[in-house]
Amino acid sequence: MAETKHTDIRPLKDRNKPKIYIETYGCQMNVNDSEVILRIMQDAGYVLTDNIDEAGVILANTCSIRDNAEQRIWGRIEQFRLQKRRRNVVIGITGCMAERLKDSLLENHTVDLVAGPDSYRNLPEMIKAVTPDNPQINVLLSQEETYADISPVRMDRNGISAFISIMRGCNNVCSYCVVPYTRGAERSRDPQSILREARELADNGYREITLLGQNVDSYLWENGRKTDFADLLESVADSVPGIRIRFSTSHPKDISDKVIETMARHGNICRHIHLPVQSGSNAMLEKMRRKYTREWYLERVGRIRSVMPDCGISTDIIAGFCGETEKDHEDTLDLMKAVGFDSAFMFQYSERPGTLAARKYPDDVPADVKTARLNEIISLQNTLSLESNRKDVGKRFRVLIDGTSKRNAEEFCGRTSSNKVCVFSAPGYGIGDYAEVVVRSCTSATLLSRLADAEE
Ligand code: SAH
Ligand code: SF4
Ligand code: F3S
Repeated sequence: MAETKHTDIRPLKDRNKPKIYIETYGCQMNVNDSEVILRIMQDAGYVLTDNIDEAGVILANTCSIRDNAEQRIWGRIEQFRLQKRRRNVVIGITGCMAERLKDSLLENHTVDLVAGPDSYRNLPEMIKAVTPDNPQINVLLSQEETYADISPVRMDRNGISAFISIMRGCNNVCSYCVVPYTRGAERSRDPQSILREARELADNGYREITLLGQNVDSYLWENGRKTDFADLLESVADSVPGIRIRFSTSHPKDISDKVIETMARHGNICRHIHLPVQSGSNAMLEKMRRKYTREWYLERVGRIRSVMPDCGISTDIIAGFCGETEKDHEDTLDLMKAVGFDSAFMFQYSERPGTLAARKYPDDVPADVKTARLNEIISLQNTLSLESNRKDVGKRFRVLIDGTSKRNAEEFCGRTSSNKVCVFSAPGYGIGDYAEVVVRSCTSATLLSRLADAEE
């Protein structure tokens, strides 16, 4: 008898339904969008499969943020196309590459379907209409779409931590960034629908939610009275007991004292702010159109720490932006040291066609210089993360267990409120439990801990 790799444990009623396979790239908002797509497709009668060979529809929910992100996805699309040699299958591209590359993705029958971030409600109809000679495309961006009424089907599987998109799009014009072009204008979602989703998650056993937006500080809902991000944070914190709250991303130009003070007032809002600085050089920040200076950034960090000394601060950094000199680079290293970031995402500048920087400034830092600078930034951050973690050795933390350790399945891992990863053994505990731990030692990435009441 032929061996089958997958044992079908789905209920009988689902086995004959059409199957959809979804691969997701990019940011947390894209992950959440895949969950919205899955709800829309489930309502249209599809079931999710993780076995690409049995899928009738294969979707790549894509990211355009850097060229290497797109290149990786192209490799996968080539693999998806191999499926077509064997059988009839619809291959679709959704997300930011769909929006950026539009109908060029249909040339040479690359794919059958192209759907931008605001057209997911039409996916079932579009898929139905696909024939070999009739590919489907919808890349219209909307001023209103927030999918507020669609309850995402969570794909995380740990059932502990979930994303809630509170807004879509971006109204900033950071000169290097493709997001405003791929996601369109910023729009906020009705706070009532956000609260409803948060309560639903709590009722379903979730223990942590992350409120998502490209720039959460510019969240604004007006309906007789104004609800800004601090107000939203406050009402989520007050009305969803038993859940801890994170949010991302904060923009340094917009993060307000009101938000910082709201965090400080609520024990269930995690003490962590992701505050992308991008560069420590004022000349670069100006060219990047970030609309703040290094002095402003340092003042905001000072403010956060004076109100919440235990608040974790992480960042994003771009190495080798247009015209970046050695001095500009030194300014970035210097700012990193001045702040002492707990962690960072670090990238080489990648020119994105159509952006202001691509039109205005030559991408003139040689590739080897970009790489060298990025390596220096990464190496400094490793030192800073280690220093930050060393300060936590001996301290006690409350950790939400969200999985088992990659190295040792007998150990749990979880995050502190400040977003640091702890690994520890905790017999009798389970995923979703809180544990009180004491840090014994650390690496630059992990706090190696033990249960606070366990014998040494
Ligand atoms: N909205 C968020 C970030 C979105 S993109 C914010 O404003 O902070 C995530 C990160 O990717 C950015 O913070 C930036 O560091 C990086 N990034 C964006 N465009 C890039 C580009 N063209 N090249 C390299 N990194 C880029
Ligand atoms: Fe891009 Fe800037 Fe908007 Fe972030 S704030 S998504 S970096 S344009
Ligand atoms: Fe990528 Fe689009 Fe997110 S470009 S980072 S998936 S908004």
